[in-house]
Amino acid sequence: MKSKNLFYYLAITIGTSSLLYRSFQLIKKKFFLKRKVYLNGLSCSFPLNCYSQDEMKEMFIENYCGGKENLLEKDFDFIQRVFQASCIDTSYVNLSKNNLFKRMKREEYTNYVKQTLIEISCKSAKNAIENCLHLNSNEITHIIFGTMTGTIAAPSMDIHLVKELQLNSNIKRLNVESMGCLTGFRLIGLCNDIALQDENNIVLLIVSDIRSALGNQLTPFESNQPIDKSNVIISALFRDSSGAAIFSQKAIFSNELSYCHILKHQSTIIPDTIELGRLKEFNDSSIHLYLDKQLPYAVFDALPNFVSKLLNEYQIDIYHCQFAVHTGGPKIIRGIKECLNLDDEQLCSSWYVMTHYGNLSGSSNLVVLEHFCRWKYSENKPNEKGICFPKDFNRYKYIVGLSFGPGIAVEGVLFQLE
Ligand SMILES: *[C@@H]1O[C@H](CO)[C@@H](O)[C@H](O)[C@H]1NC(C)=O
Ligand SMILES: *[C@@H]1O[C@H](CO)[C@@H](O)[C@H](O)[C@H]1NC(C)=O
Ligand SMILES: *[C@@H]1O[C@H](CO)[C@@H](O)[C@H](O)[C@H]1NC(C)=O
Repeated sequence: MKSKNLFYYLAITIGTSSLLYRSFQLIKKKFFLKRKVYLNGLSCSFPLNCYSQDEMKEMFIENYCGGKENLLEKDFDFIQRVFQASCIDTSYVNLSKNNLFKRMKREEYTNYVKQTLIEISCKSAKNAIENCLHLNSNEITHIIFGTMTGTIAAPSMDIHLVKELQLNSNIKRLNVESMGCLTGFRLIGLCNDIALQDENNIVLLIVSDIRSALGNQLTPFESNQPIDKSNVIISALFRDSSGAAIFSQKAIFSNELSYCHILKHQSTIIPDTIELGRLKEFNDSSIHLYLDKQLPYAVFDALPNFVSKLLNEYQIDIYHCQFAVHTGGPKIIRGIKECLNLDDEQLCSSWYVMTHYGNLSGSSNLVVLEHFCRWKYSENKPNEKGICFPKDFNRYKYIVGLSFGPGIAVEGVLFQLE
């Protein structure tokens, strides 16, 4: 009799506690799912000298080719066409005009890119910290630095930035290089994961690139020989910038830009495309970038599925999404508009950044995002010939960040605007 009672007692206790445990797990999951990571203080910066695309072209012909007289007629035409078709009006490079596209010795190159990276990174990081009212920079727990402008050098850039910005010496650091134009959105995904882990985590992200310096390290030009077309394209498109943001579960120290949180982050490698984009260094320390003509099409093929997967979980209507796309050139932006069936205005910040600053590699991701968020919450809406801006910014409740890089790989981040 007694042992039977004990059996019932045990059974009930175990039953109830497992029920309690399961409800607890459910509540925990629900609570966990509800936690949000905010994008605070988003900021960007550029080197000091502003050049028109015509000035860049003129200096490319002058300094890289040694003047028009060294060029074959058809190559001269090709240069004219590529610089024109880039859709870039202005861009920012730290070099003086005479030094644009001038070949640098390896050491001169590494010193120049490293120093410039530190300067523009500090500028955007300081602005991001200042934008977060009430944030003491001492409270930042993690720093992530990303760039495609890598060199063989140590200590790595994150340490220099900790020192320059006088951050806490116990800060957890990470330095990410060579992932290409998708760096910004990949690292936003990472910062989201770190911030989700603990409500006290405050993560500073900085992504910077000095891509115009590829133009100072081109494989040599030979007088009156056919020009390497890749070198023309690189020189016409790649420019410099830095973006920074701070990630945390609290939006308490926010300015107007931080009513933006991350819903989802997604990555993929497109099968059989590893040969389509490669960057290589040669014996004479020149750097060569190869981009296959098929590269954009591989991206356009993969994108519709990738984007519906990103939106489906939250049943989001693409109509309410603004697209912050890597500024990889007019062909990329146009192709994305077509393959996703978008209105021109859904890509307004990508077009704006493309024409005002150029192909910024991985740092473009944050720069494009920053422009749209700023416009959305500001009284002053942009207005400019040639770019189609939203008639009603209230249409946009989400931003889809999309970027592509060597692999060929795609990164997507879904942001919700509040
Ligand atoms: C960038 O330009 C500014 C202003 O011309 C100059 O003070 C600074 O030293 C330059 N930085 C590098 C690394 O060249
Ligand atoms: C670089 O040097 C190595 C060793 O001398 C040689 O095998 C290779 O072909 C060189 N590469 C080029 C592009 O000249
Ligand atoms: C812009 O830069 C990235 C490499 O960083 C490249 O994948 C993309 O194709 C470039 N765009 C053009 C048109 O060169």
